[in-house]
Amino acid sequence: MRFPLCSQVVGMTTPQIDSARLWKSLTEISVFGATPAGGLHRLAASKEDGQARDYVVAAARELGCAVRIDALGNTFMRRAGSDANAKAILVGSHLDSQPLGGKYDGIYGVMAGLELLRVLHESRTETKHAIEVAVWTNEEGARFAPAMMGAAYFAGKFTADELLVRKDVDGVQLGNSLTEIGYAGIDIVSPVEHKAYFEIHIEQGPILQDENLQIGVVTLVQGMRWFRIGISGQSGHTGTYPMETRRDALVAASHLIKAVQQIGLDQPLTGRATVGHLVVTPNSPNVIPGHVELMVEFRNPEVAVLDVMTASLNQALKETADKYGVEVVSKQELDSATIDFTSELIDLVEQAASACGKTSKRMISGAGHDACQLSAVMPTTMIFIPCDKGISHAENEAITQDWAADGAAVLVETVLAFDSK
Ligand code: GLV
Ligand code: MN
Ligand code: MN
Repeated sequence: MRFPLCSQVVGMTTPQIDSARLWKSLTEISVFGATPAGGLHRLAASKEDGQARDYVVAAARELGCAVRIDALGNTFMRRAGSDANAKAILVGSHLDSQPLGGKYDGIYGVMAGLELLRVLHESRTETKHAIEVAVWTNEEGARFAPAMMGAAYFAGKFTADELLVRKDVDGVQLGNSLTEIGYAGIDIVSPVEHKAYFEIHIEQGPILQDENLQIGVVTLVQGMRWFRIGISGQSGHTGTYPMETRRDALVAASHLIKAVQQIGLDQPLTGRATVGHLVVTPNSPNVIPGHVELMVEFRNPEVAVLDVMTASLNQALKETADKYGVEVVSKQELDSATIDFTSELIDLVEQAASACGKTSKRMISGAGHDACQLSAVMPTTMIFIPCDKGISHAENEAITQDWAADGAAVLVETVLAFDSK
């Protein structure tokens, strides 16, 4: 089924996205890391991540795109524009998933970008600016911290040397994993080459579906902080060591986890506070847990609220140490400020949605995205499509073919309108 674009700002034959082709590519790429429950387990720089990248790169090469890979494995697929001196328009997202995650978070954005390249290719549309689609490495941060790593490198927040030595829980370094999958690149790709960044993504929340809307026009992404907490007690024999004098790191962690929940609840409606990662050592039924490592994550649109939550966490860490006789250390691993997207681009997406006859509303993003990093170095905005029941970071994350097609049509309209400016 083909979806005609409803208006064409550049005043030439409207290129049409191919809904069936987009859906087929989404289905095909989801085999790499598919889980029996219908989800996706495709951690950053894993073999499956390599396979998914190969799939996209091969498709882009078929369209005649030039492919570049930088030191962090960020992969760029570029369709030339007619003006060699004009900066490129960048579109992107990620192909890695959460552990036992969904098939569309990030992946949809890359495949919609590929559909954009395909539409332009088959309609022989000449754009003034080159159109470049990026696959950012390790957006999720599930295997290597922090999240949005490849995009942050591209934006100049870290050097490659700092990031390539980051290890997963098994002690494997990112740099070695990228080499193994063939994505330890040598190309230097710089933000100065690009004029603007557009990212399309599933909403990961229920608002668009609840309100029966097709497009979310994203205005900002709320701030996020991650803290890695180490709790050290004393391990020992569970049958012999008396209860009264134990220094059980997991019991202490359970106190802290409840405190973190309360920190979120103390900010009605807007507070988000989660412990989603826990490593218990030695993790044996008959050994008192001697060490626990956990990650605390806070989100809120207001920096002042994040500051309050952080102060409460520091208080809770102290209380945990005092109450359970354990040693507690904390290291902040991510501080992503609230990101306001570029107002002209927000307007443009809104106009493009309307030109395509799609219903839309302005909204904020509760989730973090590569676009947060890109916005530090170029005009940036995002487009959302609905996501079934708002479920994401879960194996039953789902979208419909129509939602996917609606978003891709708006992406094409937006990019072409921007190109013609
Ligand atoms: C991105 O996946 C996030 O955690 O918001
Ligand atoms: Mn994502
Ligand atoms: Mn995600």
